[in-house]
Amino acid sequence: MKTQETSESLKELVKEKYGQIADQSYTENATSCCGAGGCSTMDYTIMAEDYTQLKGYVADADLGLGCGLPTEFALIKEGDTVIDLGSGAGNDAFVARSIAGEKGKIIGIDFTEKMIDKARVNAEKLGFNNVEFRFGDIEKMPVTANVADVVVSNCVLNLVPNKKQAFAEMFRVIKPGGHFSVSDIVLQGELPAGLQKSAEMYAGCVAGAIQQDEYIQLIQDAGFENVTVQKERKITIPEDILSVYLNDSEMEKYKNGALGIYSITVYGEKPGAERIKQLAEERKATCCGSDSTCC
Ligand SMILES: C[S@@+](CC[C@H](N)C(=O)[O-])C[C@H]1O[C@@H](n2cnc3c(N)ncnc32)[C@H](O)[C@@H]1O
Repeated sequence: MKTQETSESLKELVKEKYGQIADQSYTENATSCCGAGGCSTMDYTIMAEDYTQLKGYVADADLGLGCGLPTEFALIKEGDTVIDLGSGAGNDAFVARSIAGEKGKIIGIDFTEKMIDKARVNAEKLGFNNVEFRFGDIEKMPVTANVADVVVSNCVLNLVPNKKQAFAEMFRVIKPGGHFSVSDIVLQGELPAGLQKSAEMYAGCVAGAIQQDEYIQLIQDAGFENVTVQKERKITIPEDILSVYLNDSEMEKYKNGALGIYSITVYGEKPGAERIKQLAEERKATCCGSDSTCC
């Protein structure tokens, strides 16, 4: 468990990095500065998928920072209210808006001011008045409870120090019966220290990633049901970079085993109002009698 102080300094580091990245283009981010180590030859777009063919794609909002296509899996419907966590320059928010339409509402949340500024400029240029970008922390979202039909997020939660709190907040802001689809970076197996180092150097955002099992467990513990991994993709790190850090047997293990860094897209549902009531009653019934503190 990270201390409050460490969490806050990690967040400051993330804000600083994404403040720099906000000023850069997709191409610049392909050889850019990110991650705890500062500037390097890192390709920050290594995990990104191709958005260019998606309806609603806005080139100015695409900084190459995602690691999946959550809007493709999020079952967004016309008229939905969608929240995009860590919205960056608005890449997923604008794609979500093209599905939710005029009657929908999109709220992007980000704690890097330059990203919010950039996203707002993009929305302004497009003349959208139902896409709003709010400055705020995912661990304490600037949104009232039970407002979202759908939450999406792309390659962000790995950066959040208190993931338990982030999932609890997601649960709070989703309407009963609503759902989420988030793409993120997770680990499978213990990475050799060298690989972790190379991955950090190369792709920046592996440092905060946790084991996939732990990630899924946190989501379930937050109260989400029907949690499923909709897509899983192993992140390919070029062999010339791997060979600097891994010996022959480690290289063999990495290439042939499940061990590695993955992009996953995960789906989960907040139970409906009736089910929430039923769960609360069940909890009360199994409560330990005289000890009222557990209820
Ligand atoms: C890897 S970028 C992804 C941006 C966007 N989702 C995309 O795909 O283009 C991560 C974004 O999450 C934001 N972020 C990270 N931690 C956050 C937090 N705790 N609260 C709000 N935003 C956060 C960063 O400022 C940054 O804009």
